Amino acid sequence: MKPKIKLKALSVGLMILMAVNSGCFYDQVLPIELEGEISYSNDMQPYFDSKCVACHNGTGIPLNLEASVSHNELMSGGYINTTNPSNSLLYTKIVPGGSMEQYSSSAETAMTLKWIEQGAKNN
Ligand code: HEC
Repeated sequence: MKPKIKLKALSVGLMILMAVNSGCFYDQVLPIELEGEISYSNDMQPYFDSKCVACHNGTGIPLNLEASVSHNELMSGGYINTTNPSNSLLYTKIVPGGSMEQYSSSAETAMTLKWIEQGAKNN
């Protein structure tokens, strides 16, 4: 009898472990591609659309990130520093410690820096 109980406890433990692991796995398979060139229209704008536009939509809060104006707003508003990418206000706001940190995953933040390093193109 005793081994059976132990087995049950073990399988419950395994199930919890699998649930926890699948949570992490889901986090890692977010559709963010850090290899190669970041595309503004296919990578950056969808990120702004899903994480930022609810607030940054031209109705009071500075920096409109809606698709029709976002690239121009970022470039002309001084949010991007291609000479010193990690000094860009867009980036310093979303890194840990920045006031927008909670809206950006670490992968999205890394993608943003990479996009700036690649010249912040409207590609
Ligand atoms: C829930 C609303 C909300 C969301 C979502 C949000 N922001 Fe903000 N954002 C604000 C507010 C309010 C401010 C002004 C206060 C501040 O700077 O912290 C701001 C300020 C900023 C600024 C500085 C603007 C300036 O001219 O000083 C940047 C850059 C920024 N947000 C980027 C982002 C990015 C990128 C995202 C998405 C990852 C995002 N924000 C998501 C509300 C939001």
